[in-house]
Formats: sequence, C-alpha cells, structure tokens
Amino acid sequence: MTKLSVNINKIATLRNARGGNLPDLIQVAKDCEKFGAQGITVHPRPDGRHIRYEDVRYLKKIVTTEFNIEGYPSKDFIDLVLEVKPHQVTLVPDAPDAITSNNGWDTIKHQELLFNICQNFKKEGIRTSIFVNPNTVMVRNAKLCGTDRIELYTESYAVNYFTDPKTAIEDYCHAAEEAVKNGLGINAGHDLNLHNLSFFAKNIPQLLEVSIGHALVCDALYLGLEETIGRYLNRLSSI
Ligand code: PXP
Repeated sequence: MTKLSVNINKIATLRNARGGNLPDLIQVAKDCEKFGAQGITVHPRPDGRHIRYEDVRYLKKIVTTEFNIEGYPSKDFIDLVLEVKPHQVTLVPDAPDAITSNNGWDTIKHQELLFNICQNFKKEGIRTSIFVNPNTVMVRNAKLCGTDRIELYTESYAVNYFTDPKTAIEDYCHAAEEAVKNGLGINAGHDLNLHNLSFFAKNIPQLLEVSIGHALVCDALYLGLEETIGRYLNRLSSI
C-alpha cells in the first residue's frame, strides 16, 4: 500500500503566528503516527517561517515512522540533513522566498549538482528523492542524478482533475512508466486531497508514498485529525 506521510509545516505556521507552543508540533507529529500515518514530512525553509531547524532536530528524536525532510539543498540544509539523518531527503528546487514548491528540477541542467548531493546523502544511508514535473525526459535524467526515487509534482494533476481526470493523469502515467523502466521509486505530492487522491493512486500503482499537508490540515479543522488521517488512509487502501 502507498504510504501516507503527513507534512506538518502548516502546524508550525499556526504555532509561529502567535509565538509560544500552540499547537504543539511534537505532539501533533506523535498523534499523526498514532492515528496511522506512516511518515512525517517537514520542509524547513531558510527564513524558518514554519518548520525551524530546531524542530527538525527534535522531531528526529520522536518520529517512529518514516522521517522525510524536504528542501532546497543549500549548505545549511545539507548540513542539517547530514546531522539529523532522516530516512529520506527530498530535494526541491524552490527559491528561498517561494510560498510553496512551484516547480520540479531540471534534471539535465542540474545533473552534476544533484549527483554530488545524492552521493553525499547516500553515503550516510539516507534515501534520496528528487522533485520533478511529470515529464519523461526529466524522469529519465533523474536516474543519472543518482537518486533512489522521484517525487512527482502533482499540482497540475490537482488543478485539472475536476475538469478532466483522464487527461490530468496522462503525463503522470507516462512519467511513472519511465521511472519504473529506470529503476526509480515513485513518491508524489502537492495539492493532493480527499477528492483527487484515490484516482491518482489507482492510476499509478507503483506509487510508494504521498506527502500531504495543506489539504489534510484544512480537513482536520472540520473532521479532527484522527478522522482525517483515517479518511486519507482509506483513500489509499480502497484501491
Ligand atoms: N511535496 C513537496 C516537495 C512540497 O513542497 C509540499 C508542500 O510543502 C508537498 C509535497 C505537500 O503539498 P501540500 O501541502 O499541497 O499537500
């Protein structure tokens, strides 16, 4: 079954809005796991506006499922990941001031950079994943970057899903086939939600993991965290 990794950035955003420790990020991470999430994802950004570097260090001590750290591989980020040694690092090409990730890597232009960084992490036993658009050329070249997995950037799928799901998923199916051909594992994330998740997972049977934050936290406002995580897990298991 595809693993659900809960991205808890939004919990940190809420906490930081007031200072103090409400909501308690560490407790939320523990509860996500208690309610069935199979992973915790964080995306520390240089300005610390949501997840802070000290959060990442603390989370490493308490996360008992898969810990995934996403981010742009600046020197500080690389040092943090090498210090914390999560199960997985997901490399994202976002600018420091990006509101959220908004593009996949150009795995041709940045091949050497990504190769060196992936080697560095892999030497320490950290699995690597590279965030890419659903583009077969970018996926093929991700292999040459030496990564273990790709994470498919699902924003365009989510945008087009409501009008035409079949067309929305097409590029993702081709990208997934290319990944499998090249021996790459497949993760996915961005704008996945309770409406579009099942169709995505059904059509990408090789999908190993999804990381979901924004919609899941919004759903939890109405449904509560336990019920929300249950529903996301249900979407993934009813394939
Ligand atoms: N994957 C990556 C690389 C991201 O940057 C994000 C957002 O931080 C996600 C997945 C999760 O996206 P969402 O918050 O829309 O579920």
